[in-house]
Amino acid sequence: MPLVTSKEVLKAAQAGGYAVGAFNANNLEYVQAIIEAAEEENAPVILQASQGAIKYAGLEQIVAMVRNAAEAATVPVVLHLDHGTDYEQNVRCLRAGFTSLMFDGSALPFEENVRITSKIVEMAHACGIPVEAELGKVPQAGDVSFEELKALMTDPEEAKRFVELTGVDSLAVSVGSIHRMKVQEAKLDIDRIKKIKELTGIPLVLHGASGVTDEGYRAGIPAGICKINIATELNKAFTRGIREVLEKNPNEVDPRKPLGRGRDLTKEVVKAKMRLFGCSGKAGDTLGRGAAYTGKAEKLTEKELARE
Ligand code: G3H
Ligand code: ZN
Repeated sequence: MPLVTSKEVLKAAQAGGYAVGAFNANNLEYVQAIIEAAEEENAPVILQASQGAIKYAGLEQIVAMVRNAAEAATVPVVLHLDHGTDYEQNVRCLRAGFTSLMFDGSALPFEENVRITSKIVEMAHACGIPVEAELGKVPQAGDVSFEELKALMTDPEEAKRFVELTGVDSLAVSVGSIHRMKVQEAKLDIDRIKKIKELTGIPLVLHGASGVTDEGYRAGIPAGICKINIATELNKAFTRGIREVLEKNPNEVDPRKPLGRGRDLTKEVVKAKMRLFGCSGKAGDTLGRGAAYTGKAEKLTEKELARE
């Protein structure tokens, strides 16, 4: 089916009390792994590209790959810009066909973050595309200690003001997670999530979620987290697959062997996260078809119809 917007899937997630997984893709194999996992789990999915991934794979190429894969899929797929750092990047992604944008102004003073976010929201909403923004800062591993992290966390009252001033659709919050952690040991400030949810009412986004414990996901979702970003865990799985094949057979020259194994392991991680986030089996929510919807059955019917 055609790509859907993050507004649609996050609204359904908020109403249904689960979170949608947002998975970072860098190349064709990631796109295949993420969308195949969503099909097998019958889950809505957000496939996201960072500016680094866009530089690596090419903007038009990413859109073409994801759009093609989404159109062949029976589950809702969103193509989202992850951590867009300026207005121009958001415009380029909107024009290219992204169905969800992000402006990360978390390093800017509050007023400047409001100013640029509002400008992007106005431009994107004119085209029916939702925008995620960030307030408070989710840092990179190695940059701060868990103690220092407290000072970077999202202030609930400030979040309320930010959402009112910008009209943003979803908000990335700093609530205890850190980007690029290789082990799951970050603890979330659940009361802070609840307070931000209560004051803003919009879907909240958890960045740096590879380092969050399963317990953290379980408590964070009912508190207000509706979108959960995973990149590092996918990168770990993908490179583990490549390493495994090349270590077993150092003379292998067919790149499909290591890349294929990387794809398989990545897909397993995506499926496991979808089950943990509660979005497995929820594809029908976004499509207004409820729990009875099964993507597979629908696909079969389409095939049967085509044969007639
Ligand atoms: O924006 C992407 C995510 O926040 C990635 O977080 O490094 O914990 O996978 P991660
Ligand atoms: Zn992030």
